[in-house]
Amino acid sequence: MKINGLAAIVTGGASGLGAGTAEVLAAAGARVAVLDVNEGLAAETAAKVGGIAASCDVTDEADVIAALDKAARAHGPAQIVVNCAGIGPHNKTLRRTGPHPLDLFEKVIAINLTGTFNVSRLAAAAMAEMEPTAGGERGVIVHTASISAFDSPAGGAAYAASKAGVVGMTLPMARDLAPHGIRVVSIAPGPFSTPLFHTMPDDMTERLTTYSPFPGRAGRPAEFGSLVQQIVENPMLNGETIRLDAANRPPASYVQ
Ligand SMILES: NC(=O)c1ccc[n+]([C@@H]2O[C@H](COP(=O)([O-])OP(=O)(O)OC[C@H]3O[C@@H](n4cnc5c(N)ncnc54)[C@H](O)[C@@H]3O)[C@@H](O)[C@H]2O)c1
Repeated sequence: MKINGLAAIVTGGASGLGAGTAEVLAAAGARVAVLDVNEGLAAETAAKVGGIAASCDVTDEADVIAALDKAARAHGPAQIVVNCAGIGPHNKTLRRTGPHPLDLFEKVIAINLTGTFNVSRLAAAAMAEMEPTAGGERGVIVHTASISAFDSPAGGAAYAASKAGVVGMTLPMARDLAPHGIRVVSIAPGPFSTPLFHTMPDDMTERLTTYSPFPGRAGRPAEFGSLVQQIVENPMLNGETIRLDAANRPPASYVQ
């Protein structure tokens, strides 16, 4: 789809990959709504990209409905939806202090997996009502998975499960939404330089990028946003998860 003039929604758009995506889409002419639990930062990012902000917890149905309504009132129903809201806590299945806390596992699944599905299913309902393009397209939904869905080091059971769930639902959602002219594509990033990435100690973030043969650095949010742009613009991309990782393959454990 041609991005210029379309309404776009970016969840987790206040920060990191979401903020980078909001900037790229706005530069390509989209009217961008930034949905995030971090209301203050969402407003800052929205102001930067000339868009609007809506406070929203992606796990909460009523919150998402209200945020989508607010965005639609300002820009019309979104034909580009990018799910970047997520959290990344790691914890071993068994530690000296006991087993992995169940509530932590459930929280990661709720935000990263259920939250992504919640936003996408509700946004798809509005998208399906839009006039199709000459090529029959009504919209594009992008999910953010992670290379951890395929190659997670120790400590990533909850995170990897949430991201593997995102990968797993990509093809059936694309098949479900195909009759409506809506595509669904996931991106599986390797290490990207964002506030979430930098919650880890510096020696750890450096070690992570040593597993990226080339370029041997963390990705930049604008490079993630650039792949989102290419996904929206290329109608043949559908039902697939694309690794964006500089050939990064993590080891069994980052702790040496
Ligand atoms: N940075 C990386 O190296 C990397 C690698 C692979 C995958 N990812 C994934 O990319 C996505 C974005 O991560 P990031 O690195 O930009 O992190 P980030 O912390 O910079 O941004 C995440 C945003 O999501 C928001 N958020 C968290 N919970 C939310 C909720 N319940 N409802 C709405 N918003 C919520 C946060 O407020 C924040 O603004 C995440 O899904 C993450 O798992 C990141």
